[in-house]
Amino acid sequence: MTAAPAPATSARPKLRLGVLGSGSGSNCQAILDACARPEFPAQVAVVVSDVENARILERARQAGVEALHIAPGKFRTKLEPEVEQQYVAALRERQVELVCLAGFMRVLKQGFLNAFPGRIINIHPSLLPAFPGLESWKQALNYGVKVTGCTVHFVDAGIDAGPIILQAAVPVLDDDTPESLHQRIHEQEHRIYPEAIRLLAEGKISIEGRRVVVCRQ
Ligand code: GRF
Repeated sequence: MTAAPAPATSARPKLRLGVLGSGSGSNCQAILDACARPEFPAQVAVVVSDVENARILERARQAGVEALHIAPGKFRTKLEPEVEQQYVAALRERQVELVCLAGFMRVLKQGFLNAFPGRIINIHPSLLPAFPGLESWKQALNYGVKVTGCTVHFVDAGIDAGPIILQAAVPVLDDDTPESLHQRIHEQEHRIYPEAIRLLAEGKISIEGRRVVVCRQ
């Protein structure tokens, strides 16, 4: 099965992205920078945050992209159902075709997932399925693994659990601190997230069960 975003050809308009984030937005910046290249087959239509003063919104504005704050409601780790529909409506109004989570600190529930089937992706700072959840670089360091990394994956109802699109490995050094390890993971994230978006936009990704197959020709 070919993943939902339609194949890109030279005649096809750029894939419209909606980026969701709650924090610094360095991955969003990498996506914005990639989209600024004329040959890149995607564009950011809107950046949405649940945090009003998040730096990710500032990054969007600086890039000339619409920045939207939608307050999350009363829950701490998810959006209220009505708010979830506000997010969906905002993304649909802007004809978003692929939703990219970039440090969005809330779990998306079925109402959101159903609105964008197979069209939500996330970046996670570990080699999944190892170390899902929060602060994965600390988990990796505390566990004592010698290699960790990052993963771009489709989002499903599980936590950091959907089919894996791309991964990059990062060695754990003996003198690593959580900060130094996170920094090197971030560098790889900024490389593979735009690459995964490019592959999706160009229709080079298909899903067979849990396996995502990348056609690189
Ligand atoms: C990244 O480490 C990403 O893997 C995780 O959240 C962090 C977001 O960082 N999902 P940034 O806001 O993109 O700098």
